[in-house]
Amino acid sequence: MEKMWAGRFQKELDREADDFNSSIHVDQRMFRQDIRGSVAHAAMLAKQGILTEQEGQEIIEALGGILQDIEDGALAIDPEAEDIHMFIESVLTKRIGDLGKKLHTARSRNDQVAVDIRLYLRDETAEILGLIKELIGAVAAQAKTNANIIMPGYTHLQRAQPITFGHHLLAYCMMLIRDCGRLEDAMKRMNQNPLGACALAGTTYNTDRAETAKLLGFDGYTLNSIDSVSDRDFCLELLSAFSVLMMHLSRFSEEIILWSSWEFKFVELDDSYTTGSSIMPQKKNPDMAELVRGKTGRVYGDLMALLTTLKGLPLAYNKDMQEDKEAIFDSIDTVKKCLRVFTPMIATMKAIPENMYAAAGKGFINATDLADYLVKKGLPFRTAYKIVGQTVARAIEEHKVLDALSLETLKEFSPLFEADVYEEISLQTCVSKRISAGGTGADSVAAQIEFVEDYLK
Ligand code: ARG
Repeated sequence: MEKMWAGRFQKELDREADDFNSSIHVDQRMFRQDIRGSVAHAAMLAKQGILTEQEGQEIIEALGGILQDIEDGALAIDPEAEDIHMFIESVLTKRIGDLGKKLHTARSRNDQVAVDIRLYLRDETAEILGLIKELIGAVAAQAKTNANIIMPGYTHLQRAQPITFGHHLLAYCMMLIRDCGRLEDAMKRMNQNPLGACALAGTTYNTDRAETAKLLGFDGYTLNSIDSVSDRDFCLELLSAFSVLMMHLSRFSEEIILWSSWEFKFVELDDSYTTGSSIMPQKKNPDMAELVRGKTGRVYGDLMALLTTLKGLPLAYNKDMQEDKEAIFDSIDTVKKCLRVFTPMIATMKAIPENMYAAAGKGFINATDLADYLVKKGLPFRTAYKIVGQTVARAIEEHKVLDALSLETLKEFSPLFEADVYEEISLQTCVSKRISAGGTGADSVAAQIEFVEDYLK
């Protein structure tokens, strides 16, 4: 295929080099955004008298036809084209002749690609935000169902204090809400129109960049033409936000994997989101959670790849920047796929309260509460802490949990222990007495659920 830029060359581009240079296999997915950007550009050119009304109209109609034909499958994107921008312009020229060649007036592929990526990422990020919100809804629903289910809370993966499963799940809702905030912040900064920056220095034509900004739904236009075509920090911001999101999903996955093991058996995943083994008939593997955990590495990799690609580039556009799309598209695809299986996996997950409760009953998880009991009877916390430490050592010796020690034994450690101690250190009391704001007590859990539900409204 003859290159649009062939004019100054005597020889054709080498085949292998041509293939190496081409980005159509990656950027063809932006065909809608490319056409949308061109329609706005043509409308602006006509409004400014750079094209006649008639010319603008004809170009816009032809672009609409191209969009329709690609959508319908009547027009295949040519894999031999250099990129999606060249492809659409060449089809336009084939369809309306020389007029098609006027579209690229006061524009360069450098600002064209910059606008296309932003439009594409804006659409995709909006979709991803919707998917995260669905996940938050699913987690909150599980938290509501399991608001009173007692489980061990851990630090260092050692049983620490009793909590409710609802409270534990709500921790993820809070993280995911911040993930949405990060994406929304990035979108705000990204939503500035780079079109009209042209190759790097602006143009001699009397363009109206505010007009294309308005037509394309941007909040305004970028103020420096060099920055407009050189900047990909909006891709990096999104990749960072996706990396943090994936880190959260990965931690959640890790817990689900642990909880589904026979060692824990706190939850049972639905058959639709687990797999069997080819050799071990008893297996029910949490592959979806493992894959989400695994794919987190890809997204981190995409972030690192693009940071590294950009770090040494002089201003303005360099072909290195063509690599941006593969990284950001891979992350978008990965994040979407992960969310699409993660949400129904969570929604269909069943808690096994007996096992959670039994695990919470072990491990001296109420030791802090035993110390608090003595503090309420007048001992300084450090003294109470020491006494309970000795009590725990005795319980270990006797192979008993704290609640199973007789009052007589307890009194050996402090005369302040009375019969009411057993009620005070029951798992139920330990949870219900954690009344501080944000704690695992029932009021706080209810307040958290309300907060999340309001957020989703
Ligand atoms: N395919 C190119 C990219 O994605 C489009 C911009 C090309 N600009 C240029 N001056 N060669 O970066």
